[in-house]
Amino acid sequence: MPDSEPIPFHRPAMGDAEVEAASRVLRSGWLTTGAEAHAFEAELAARIGVRHALALNSATAALHLALDAMGIGDGDEVIVPTYTFTSCGEVCRYVGARPVLVDVGQDYLIDVTAAGTAVTARTRAVMPVHFGGQAVRTDALRAALPADMRIIEDAAHAFPADTNGVPVGRLGDAAAFSFYATKTMTTGGEGGMLATDDDAIAARARQMRLHGISADAWNRYGAGGRWYYEVIDAGFKYNMTDLAAAIGRVQLRRLDELATARAEIAAAYDAAFAGSSVVRAPPRRAGDRHAWHLYTVRIDLDAIVIDRAEVMTRLAGAGIGASVHFIPLHLHPYYQREFGYRRGDMPVAERLYEETVSLPIWPGMTHDQVTRVASTLLGICDAARSPVQV
Ligand SMILES: Cc1ncc(COP(=O)(O)O)c(C=O)c1O
Repeated sequence: MPDSEPIPFHRPAMGDAEVEAASRVLRSGWLTTGAEAHAFEAELAARIGVRHALALNSATAALHLALDAMGIGDGDEVIVPTYTFTSCGEVCRYVGARPVLVDVGQDYLIDVTAAGTAVTARTRAVMPVHFGGQAVRTDALRAALPADMRIIEDAAHAFPADTNGVPVGRLGDAAAFSFYATKTMTTGGEGGMLATDDDAIAARARQMRLHGISADAWNRYGAGGRWYYEVIDAGFKYNMTDLAAAIGRVQLRRLDELATARAEIAAAYDAAFAGSSVVRAPPRRAGDRHAWHLYTVRIDLDAIVIDRAEVMTRLAGAGIGASVHFIPLHLHPYYQREFGYRRGDMPVAERLYEETVSLPIWPGMTHDQVTRVASTLLGICDAARSPVQV
């Protein structure tokens, strides 16, 4: 590959098996939620070791259904780390609850002490985000919170991560997985899963994911199905199609291969940045499995004369697709207008945001591409070094 060839931020790892699975469904006579979606649920539940897995069209849907199934609603509060995607905050608003934002630690994960301090009489749940693919230690979180607090894992980045040998998906009362195009595995662009051991949460979410009706369309139209159904509540349209599930089943079988490919890229980046005093590799805990959805570096802005935006511009100029995760929620106009948050409220998240760059990491990236990304970034930083003070 010539040096000038652009390196995208992400490229999905779609092989012949995914294409064949999709064609099989397209020719089968059944496209929407059916046997494939049910098989995908059973396989994913077995992989994580939970009683229930519900296939959905996004992780956002899973977070929403979890809040609804826990009976969280008007006037309730949900503790959310500010260093996340807006899904976490918006789903609280869907049910009429207030997202109470808290700062994160240097590891990008929810600050347990800040979460404990944010608890009020209205707090019902906390939503730890396994940022980048590193699991939050929810045992420490649980210990800092009242015993009746529900824990909803945002596992959008973190399949197949674990902590102390316990997989993400079993670290709280319910967990939301994402199969969006850039994630460690995808169902072909969009998709999600709600995982839980709680029978009541699963029963309510199963009903609400398809219009609040008493039986899935799958049961109604399939062989032996019935035409009669009852609407029990005003539900949502969150089910996963069989087309998506068939692709997801193949990716689930390949999950360890895909995750290993990402881990190898992360290790190559680690080696490339090990000697740098300006570019710092992302934090991780020894012994825990990291899913490496993101490889985020921190740039020491005191050591260079340009800011992160200029680093991004120069990376783009060199044909490298980088990104920024995340703009903290409390810096967005909506959260400031609606809840009064201001810059300065969560200093750790703000500093992380100013210094962080997400580099390309996807199965199929060649060693040469990884080396080019790393050396380009190091070169940009070297060329912009602050003059030495004497
Ligand atoms: C931390 C986090 N949570 C939730 C989501 C929502 O996932 P989905 O696009 O599947 O709804 C995302 C999306 O990227 C995310 O980054």
